[in-house]
Amino acid sequence: MNLDGQSVLITAGASGIGRAIALEVHNAGASVHVVDIDKVAVERFAEMMPEAMVSIGDASDESQTRSIAEQHIRTYGGIDVLVNCAGIAGPTAPIQDVALDDWHRCMAVSLDSTFLYCRAFIPSMRSAGHGSIINISSTAGWHGYPLRSPYAAAKWAVIGLTKTLAMELGPYGIRANVICPGSINGERMDRVIVAESAQSGLSPQDVRKKYTNSCSLRTFIDAEDIARMALFLASSDASRITGQIMNVDGHVENFGS
Ligand SMILES: NC(=O)c1ccc[n+]([C@@H]2O[C@H](COP(=O)([O-])OP(=O)(O)OC[C@H]3O[C@@H](n4cnc5c(N)ncnc54)[C@H](O)[C@@H]3O)[C@@H](O)[C@H]2O)c1
Repeated sequence: MNLDGQSVLITAGASGIGRAIALEVHNAGASVHVVDIDKVAVERFAEMMPEAMVSIGDASDESQTRSIAEQHIRTYGGIDVLVNCAGIAGPTAPIQDVALDDWHRCMAVSLDSTFLYCRAFIPSMRSAGHGSIINISSTAGWHGYPLRSPYAAAKWAVIGLTKTLAMELGPYGIRANVICPGSINGERMDRVIVAESAQSGLSPQDVRKKYTNSCSLRTFIDAEDIARMALFLASSDASRITGQIMNVDGHVENFGS
């Protein structure tokens, strides 16, 4: 699979899953543009991949999104692949204790960002007559997720949005798919486990075991597993694939319970 001559923008691309996707598509020949809110992480990324375009920005901010998209189109003459990876875990709490501000922030980063970047780039994709949109949801995007209601709601919405994009944009040659990662090895899941342990009274080890045992392959997933799926969806090998939910999760059976 190669992406020679293609430009790819990845939100939340300076670390975690986004960074793994950036590396994978870069190795496949694409020009990479990473957007991330964390200045230090962006600087580290720029040192690692000096040829990449980088932007510091909040993916949920409308005016920043617009100007970053305009800059991308000016630089590359359009966009081939948009990866909407930004998403935050939100609060871990019973729903009656969730503050409205925390609900809104989780929705803004995990859902609004996807809408904003799609809206900013779709006119350019439509005039080019092609494009691939890859949205990152979660296993939580189609299972309920006790104590994580804003996150689960946002990630279910990302799936609904992606299916709708596929229908609206298919006639213009634009594909839209969603990847649902399972529990990913790394700092974010470590933080999720600590927060859930504090709420549930289970030890962090037992919470981790619960997540592992909920999955048929009894495993956590690596960010690189998600990156390989993103490369496939971006590539011409997936030219007839749109509107699909790709679970890369070892087959989660009973998430969150
Ligand atoms: N880690 C997991 O276990 C897991 C599982 C399922 C789905 N996901 C989803 O995958 C995506 C990436 O997850 P991750 O684990 O790599 O995340 P992460 O917490 O490691 O963060 C990755 C990057 O996102 C950036 N970021 C945070 N808020 C931002 C914003 N408003 N604008 C731009 N950048 C922002 C951070 O600065 C960081 O560099 C998210 O949408 C997440 O919900 C993750």
